Amino acid sequence: MGSGERHLVWHNATITRKHREELGGHKSVAIWFTGLSGSGKSTLAHALEDRLYRLGCRSYVFDGDNVRHGLNRDLGFSAEDRKENIRRIGEMVKLFLDAGVITITAFISPFKADRQWVRELVGPENFVEVYCDCSLDVCEERDVKGSYKKARAGLIPEFTGISSPYEKPDAPELSFDTANSGIDECVDSIVTYLIGRGTVPASPTAGK
Ligand code: ADX
Repeated sequence: MGSGERHLVWHNATITRKHREELGGHKSVAIWFTGLSGSGKSTLAHALEDRLYRLGCRSYVFDGDNVRHGLNRDLGFSAEDRKENIRRIGEMVKLFLDAGVITITAFISPFKADRQWVRELVGPENFVEVYCDCSLDVCEERDVKGSYKKARAGLIPEFTGISSPYEKPDAPELSFDTANSGIDECVDSIVTYLIGRGTVPASPTAGK
């Protein structure tokens, strides 16, 4: 059903993303972490948020486990539900970009087509895909949440990497070998990248 048939009319705000970005002193962008469970997505996402806060930049992290406690609590882990999970987050990210916020997400987002869909939705110029490149062996050995052990025992069906696929990105904007890199080192690279593309200013504005 189109918006015309549903009697919906888009309301144009007088205050735009550009105004909000100017007020915040930085641009908005989506930083989309993807990788296996335990590959370091949440750790890096929150470390990046911490660093951006200290630089005086507004950011917000959407984390898979957390969002599935609330907004997406009705979704499971079938391919169809994962697609819907990413669709809702994509729409949320789009709104946050309009709000002038640097929007960081930490979802396994195992399917290329779903990630590509978000890239198109928000506009490729607003989408920075960050691959947390960590082998299944390392993630499984770490098993921070104990999920891999349960998945191997058949207690968690359709578990990514064990009984459900993960499709690696072909050309992520950034990629980190998270088994062999320090958190600060990765965050430094992301911030340098953001400065390079003009998203955040080169000199910190915190405390201004
Ligand atoms: S996604 O595939 O739809 O992007 P999402 O990032 O939201 O996944 O959620 C992944 C988290 O849910 C994992 O970190 C893990 O703690 C938990 N989880 C529970 N069941 C599964 C499963 N079958 N596959 C992967 N993760 C699962």
